[in-house]
Formats: sequence, C-alpha cells, structure tokens
Amino acid sequence: MYIHVLGSAAGGGFPQWNCNCHNCRGVRQGSINAKTRTQSSIAISQNGTDWILFNASPDIRQQLFDFKAAHPARGLRDTGISAVVLMDSQLDHTTGLLTLREGCPMDVWCTDMVYQDLTTGFPIFNMLTHWNGGLQHHQIDPNQRFHINGFDDLELTPLIIKSSAPPYSPHRNDPHDGDNIALIVKDLSSQKQLFYAPGLAKIDERIMQIMQASDCVMIDGTLWTDDEMQTCGVGTKTGQDMGHLHISGENGSLHYLDQLTGIRKVLIHINNTNPILDDDSEQAAILKQHGVEVAFDGMQIEL
Ligand code: MLT
Ligand code: MN
Ligand code: ZN
Repeated sequence: MYIHVLGSAAGGGFPQWNCNCHNCRGVRQGSINAKTRTQSSIAISQNGTDWILFNASPDIRQQLFDFKAAHPARGLRDTGISAVVLMDSQLDHTTGLLTLREGCPMDVWCTDMVYQDLTTGFPIFNMLTHWNGGLQHHQIDPNQRFHINGFDDLELTPLIIKSSAPPYSPHRNDPHDGDNIALIVKDLSSQKQLFYAPGLAKIDERIMQIMQASDCVMIDGTLWTDDEMQTCGVGTKTGQDMGHLHISGENGSLHYLDQLTGIRKVLIHINNTNPILDDDSEQAAILKQHGVEVAFDGMQIEL
C-alpha cells in the first residue's frame, strides 16, 4: 500500500495564523530550520490512483493541489479520493468535508459517536444534504473490521482509544467509546500493516502488541512535554486535557517507541509549539538517535 502524508501538523497548522511563538515566528522569518506544515491528514491507496482519505483537514484544498496522484485526471469532474474515514470529530479532522462539497455524494465512514457530533454540535452531515446527495454515511463499529468498496485488499481494524471528544461536542466532558479511534490498516496482498493514531492519550499493553506487530506506526506527536502549551505561554491546557500523550520523559511516547524493534516509527499531528519541528533542535536530534521520524507534508511511505 501507498501512504501519502497530506498534512502533518496539529490543529492550527504550522505556523498558526495568529501565533507568534518561537517556532511560528521562526518559520515565518526563516530563523529556524523548519518546514511549514498543514493540518493532519493522510491518504492510502493500493494502486496509486484511488485513495482513501483519513480525516479531512481545513487545509484540504491546498493539500489536494499539492497531491498530484489525486488530481482530476479521468473526466471533466473527477478525483482520486474515493472515500473518507474519520478518526474523530475534531474540527482539524472534519472541516475539510465542507471543501469537498463539490464532489458530493461522498462516502464517509465514522463511528456512531462521531456521527452524533457531526449531526448535532457541528451538523455537517445535515448541512451537506443540500449538495448533490451530501455525505453518504457508513457506520464504523469500533469492534468490527471493515472494508471500503473498491479496496478489497485493505482491511481496516478500528481500535477504541482513550482521547477526548472535541470542545464543541455535546458530550465533551463525558467520554464514550468511539469518540476517537486508532486504525490498523492491513494490506492483505503484501501482509504489511500500518498502525495510525493521530490522537492518542495513553499507550497500554494492547497498543504495544499491535504496534510491534505492525510494519510502520504513525502516532500522536502533538507535544514534546505535557505542559508545553503553558510553558510556551500560548494556552492553559495540558496534553492530557486534550487527549494527547507527550513524547518525552518517563511515560512519554518515546519511552514506548523505544521498546519496539524492526519497525518504522513516525510521529504525526505535531503542534506548532513542539521543538521537534526545528530540525536543528536538541529534541529533533534525540528523535534521530532513537530512530523516530517526524512526518512532513508530502512524505510518502510504501508498505
Ligand atoms: C486536538 O487534536 O486536540 C484538536 O484538534 C484541537 C483543536 O480543536 O484545534
Ligand atoms: Mn487535532
Ligand atoms: Zn505557534
């Protein structure tokens, strides 16, 4: 399977339009060694022509412009995007659906909890019914493997994970199974698998086993430290408040990634405050020493 990173940043992107933090200012001025990044989304294909989009970022218009393999090439109106899978109902993963309205009807896969948010707090399913059939809802049962039409060799296995419903959700402070999922995407012909979890608050034994059984893991790299938003002076929330496990320290994700052998390890959904965005930072050097990659827009992985 082919994996294409459309966007590698967390909500707000990098630089964030209204942010003057060290990183955002540095990348604008060219005073740090960093690439700009759009908000997190990946696409996966078996044949290089037809793609499943995982999350629809507000930056999708630019992302699809930059992604030649998905350009309209077979007809007057066309796209390489065949279906959208949502991992949660966060705005940085769903507002791109508004931009896809010209391509409706569009098949959208999500859990019941995500569907509930997207028909109440942010009723995009209701709104888009006015655009040529709108979003065609397909239910993800978080306890069931599923296949998407036309992608017979790709088996998708959802996993219920601990994270948070979005701030606008009617049940923001009342977590439910299915608010967030991670996915195992397995190519049945090559038998290779990706573990994808752009939002992950906790790594337990079950996740460790799944990661070790994968060929590549692409996981939450939002923050270097749990209190990073506070220490950068840009916010009051911790990573745990937002449902994101930080990378460094005793119980950080790097500690867990270190225990995995023989697989490719990639961090995605990087917040603009994160020091790993500066390729010359001490933290970026630590990741290199530990064999962990930082996703960037346009990154391609073949499994
Ligand atoms: C998150 O990942 O926690 C959210 O996308 C934050 C946001 O809404 O910007
Ligand atoms: Mn996010
Ligand atoms: Zn910033």
